[in-house]
Amino acid sequence: MDKIVLKGGKKLKGEVEISGAKNSALPIMAAALLAEEESVLENVPNLSDIMTMIRLLHSLGAKAHYEGGILAVKPGKNLNPVAPYKLVSTMRASVCVLGPLLGRVGRAEVSLPGGCVIGPRPIDLHLKGLRSLGAQIDIQHGYVVAKSKRKLRGNDIFLGGGFGSSVLATGNVMMAATLAEGRTYIQNAACEPEVVDLAQFLKKMGARIQGEGSPRIEIEGVKRLRGTTHSVIPDRIEAGTYMVAAAMTGGDVFIKKCMPEHQNALMDRLSQSGVRIERNHSGLRLRRNGGLKPVDVTTLPYPGFPTDLQAQMMALMSVTPGISVITEKIYPDRFMHVAELNRMGSQIFLEGNSAIVHGVKRLSGAPVTASDLRASGALILAGLVAEGTTEVRRVYHLDRGYEHIEEKLSRLGAEIRREKE
Ligand code: EPU
Repeated sequence: MDKIVLKGGKKLKGEVEISGAKNSALPIMAAALLAEEESVLENVPNLSDIMTMIRLLHSLGAKAHYEGGILAVKPGKNLNPVAPYKLVSTMRASVCVLGPLLGRVGRAEVSLPGGCVIGPRPIDLHLKGLRSLGAQIDIQHGYVVAKSKRKLRGNDIFLGGGFGSSVLATGNVMMAATLAEGRTYIQNAACEPEVVDLAQFLKKMGARIQGEGSPRIEIEGVKRLRGTTHSVIPDRIEAGTYMVAAAMTGGDVFIKKCMPEHQNALMDRLSQSGVRIERNHSGLRLRRNGGLKPVDVTTLPYPGFPTDLQAQMMALMSVTPGISVITEKIYPDRFMHVAELNRMGSQIFLEGNSAIVHGVKRLSGAPVTASDLRASGALILAGLVAEGTTEVRRVYHLDRGYEHIEEKLSRLGAEIRREKE
């Protein structure tokens, strides 16, 4: 297994180019199943989650070929609508084949994903939405077994749960509804840019969708969809992680090929904290001359502060003098990184779903273990400013979501390398 070894203390300087968004690419790859013909996806990042989704597409009977950021998916006439435990258990996002399979084949058997380190992660909203479209759904032997004897039928569906909207449930219902009879209204739909990107892709396939990006999406079912070409939006979480890296190291970094309009919540917190941010059409420049001030953060559905940047923001606040409170409202248990950051000298105390962060002057490099994808991002950030050497273990988490992270950080001047354990 690989580990990342980094020596702290370098100010990051230069340009970094942001890759395509993993969380956009994954549901779009599933959506390609809605047509028989080939779809070509551009700007698809080379990440282990993408490779898992390609394996899943193959096991469903589709052809998929990935090279140089371009993925061609050809589902063909006959799909085998079973998503096995082996694949779903390694990547929860596999659940987004449920909607397209039901829509196109009228049948799907998808292993229940189960919980993960960031919390229980139920899929009740996905099932509620698909049932409202007329699917019969049972849980059998750990699998969601979904069938529809006749075509799915449009409906008015409220998709809110105890923690607000759901990104992938909105995607699943939207995908299934594209081929249903009549109109579907999704109320309390997720507004995340990844939902908008998925809707854009579906529209290019011939779907009739309105209101994406708002809490009410309207879908008018069509008879069939066709293959198309689409370029995936830049990854706002990857961009956000480099933005925090620039702030944390006191550097001067230009974040190229990102969409500044997707970073409003983070830009607001960083500029309140004292980071200078300039935006132009091709990206964002972040600089810091003086010290930072603590800011409080509460994670919320988009356009609120993303849960996927909570751990990184905590790493920043842990070296910002003063006290900040970070409250997690999407995944109340998503705090596995706290103990590891504290091993590096952070002073973070948990109180329910809030972390009270007492900023310290300096972190000290240590061997640490990544618990999930974004936690590993936070540990890398901490290592960039820690005194001495930090070794981040279980790098496979990092490889699920950060394309070429060592190369990108090295180019910005960080001392970072990958080693075999
Ligand atoms: N929820 C339910 N019932 C459901 C679905 C969700 O109660 O049926 C709850 C969740 O437990 C959570 C909240 O609703 O409390 C929001 O979860 P959501 O469904 O929006 O999450 P997701 O769609 O499964 C995506 C991203 C996550 C990201 C969340 C929130 C993908 C592949 N994953 O997951 O990304 O944290 O939205 O923005 O798009 C990551 O990239 O590291 C990651 C975990």
